[in-house]
Amino acid sequence: MEKILVLDFGGQYNQLIARRVRDNRVYAEILPYTTDLETIRQNKYKGIIFTGGPNSVFDMSSPHYSREILDLGIPVLGICYGCQLIAWMEKGRVSTAPVSEYGKIELTAESSPMFDNIPSKSIVWMSHTDYISEAPEGYEITAFTPDCPCAAMQNKKKNIYAVQFHPEVTHSEYGEQILYNFLYNVCGCKGEWVMDSFIDSTVKKLREQIGDKNVILGLSGGVDSSVAAALLSKAVGRQLTCVFVDQGIMRKNEGDFVEKTFTSLFDMNFVRVNCGDVFLEKLKGVTDPEQKRKIIGTEFFNVFWNEIRKQNDKGFFAQGTIYPDCIESGKGDAAVIKTHHNRVNTPDDVEFLGIIEPLADLFKDEVRRVGEKLGIPRELVWRQPFPGPGLGVRIIGEITKEKIELLQEADFILRDEMARNGYERNMSQFFCVLPGVKTVGVMGDHRTYDNLVIIRAVTTDDFMTADWARIPYDILAKVSNRITNECRGINRVVYDITSKPPATVEYE
Ligand code: XMP
Repeated sequence: MEKILVLDFGGQYNQLIARRVRDNRVYAEILPYTTDLETIRQNKYKGIIFTGGPNSVFDMSSPHYSREILDLGIPVLGICYGCQLIAWMEKGRVSTAPVSEYGKIELTAESSPMFDNIPSKSIVWMSHTDYISEAPEGYEITAFTPDCPCAAMQNKKKNIYAVQFHPEVTHSEYGEQILYNFLYNVCGCKGEWVMDSFIDSTVKKLREQIGDKNVILGLSGGVDSSVAAALLSKAVGRQLTCVFVDQGIMRKNEGDFVEKTFTSLFDMNFVRVNCGDVFLEKLKGVTDPEQKRKIIGTEFFNVFWNEIRKQNDKGFFAQGTIYPDCIESGKGDAAVIKTHHNRVNTPDDVEFLGIIEPLADLFKDEVRRVGEKLGIPRELVWRQPFPGPGLGVRIIGEITKEKIELLQEADFILRDEMARNGYERNMSQFFCVLPGVKTVGVMGDHRTYDNLVIIRAVTTDDFMTADWARIPYDILAKVSNRITNECRGINRVVYDITSKPPATVEYE
């Protein structure tokens, strides 16, 4: 399969570069800049992209790479820091720019394989304090901006291209076309990365790997484990057992929906462990957020692994790990490179033949596309993030059965109204919170003293920062009206208008 290497020099958009390449139907993988040349040579990449990064190339402690990489005969594209790095490796001159560029800038581009099908003037996204003050010998400058005389350069003979701007971000008007041009005009890719072929080849691989053994998967009802379950079911059917732990703190009807989906649409053994009462008992009287989280996490671990022990099967253990969970990011200093793993730790006394992670090469949007193709209901495939501790972190103070039920009802109404009005997928995340606050109200001629419910809704790209979502007033009015009428025990609804930072998305 044709592959592009995204060589990571620590920039903030590196995963985005790989995703954009894959959007163009070419498989891309991210490796840190510390990857040795021999590995790169053996992988037979169709092209290499040097990413951006926060450093200066003339600072010798910055991430660099042996210049032999430019002689492998593989086309190279340098982006931002990667662009300056090529200039530096090729003995051009990189200096601090007299004017730093940040944001949308007008680019004037000349004829180049990289700029096919884009107008000579377009808007690009810039973010740099250094610039190429002198292009290396053998390189021609192919684009400039008012403050950046070398905004793109190329050495056609060596198939090396470099752009100072960021084609991977949507603010670059023709960024997608520029990446397409690199992949198809320069690297000669054919566009083989499609989800159908991923499913076929993965199913084949899973069948070979699993043979006649069994597989156990922890199913949370989230997108990743659901898609992993569907894929494994397609590969090995009833050799798969999915264990679904329902702690009783999911959204209204969610546990039943997950069970119905997987028992009716997919061939597998489905084990549901209902342990809401055990959880409530453990959480009795606990109000501290961290303690609540800890109890829920520990109890989940205990219940889940006890069930697995009961299964008593030394087959394989599968997980819905996805690509961003596995990427090693280059932070510009080899010493601080970390592996971010979201993987489950298996207890020492439980043995498996091996771990299977069928989605470990996919980004979230690819996982969703695979899920749709496998026939998982859209409601599940496009599910919003839902925290592991569930509604437990959306009920402030002690968690009780009554509070869970009240919150489930209010939250259900919010989701129902958003869906009816087509807002289900317009916002990154929305939900209700029960802060444990009571206020005075009036109903008919009677004074009430009932619960307050908060509506929280955000828009975000990455959940690291988020803006509060602007839900239209008429939807908010309907939601408020329905909640106060339909949920006995709630007499007031408020809307959270705080971004992250300073607040977080969740309340605990
Ligand atoms: P915060 O509250 O940190 O949330 O701004 C950012 C995103 O992470 C989700 N979240 C969690 N997800 N386990 C999870 O799997 C957790 O403990 C957890 N806490 C927060 C949150 O819903 C939001 O999407």
